[in-house]
Amino acid sequence: MKIAIGNDHVAYKMKQEIVEYLTQNGYDVLNFGTDSTERCDYPVYGEKVAHAVVNKQVSAGILICGTGIGISLAANKVKGIRAAVCSEPYSAKLSKQHNNTNILAFGARVIGIETAKMIIDEWLNAKFEGGRHQKRIDMISEIESKNL
Ligand code: RB5
Repeated sequence: MKIAIGNDHVAYKMKQEIVEYLTQNGYDVLNFGTDSTERCDYPVYGEKVAHAVVNKQVSAGILICGTGIGISLAANKVKGIRAAVCSEPYSAKLSKQHNNTNILAFGARVIGIETAKMIIDEWLNAKFEGGRHQKRIDMISEIESKNL
């Protein structure tokens, strides 16, 4: 499975640890940067990963900034993206089962690396449940189409 990853300068160190973790666990990681601690703007990386997801270059995306908020907001502006900021595993799991999130975001200033790994595991192993949840996702897509 191929996963896109993107981050800002605040999250560079955590991104490196996560790339190593994912690679060790058999995932193919496509890194969109940034790859230094030099100050940069998180929307750039949120958009790059979002495009890789909607273009089906990858099956899923992971975004990290200081809080996970800014970078997920940027990604959510791309049509078809459902990015959720998760700071604990339960929300990450439910965000896939109920909301069919295609991007997981978290904050390098908010959680530690071990919590980040648990969140990623829950999210990647969860399956979308469909059914009544699909109808609600379709409603979200309608909002997206109506408000261009
Ligand atoms: C950068 O200082 C910080 O604003 C960014 O990493 C992120 O937390 C934004 O949401």
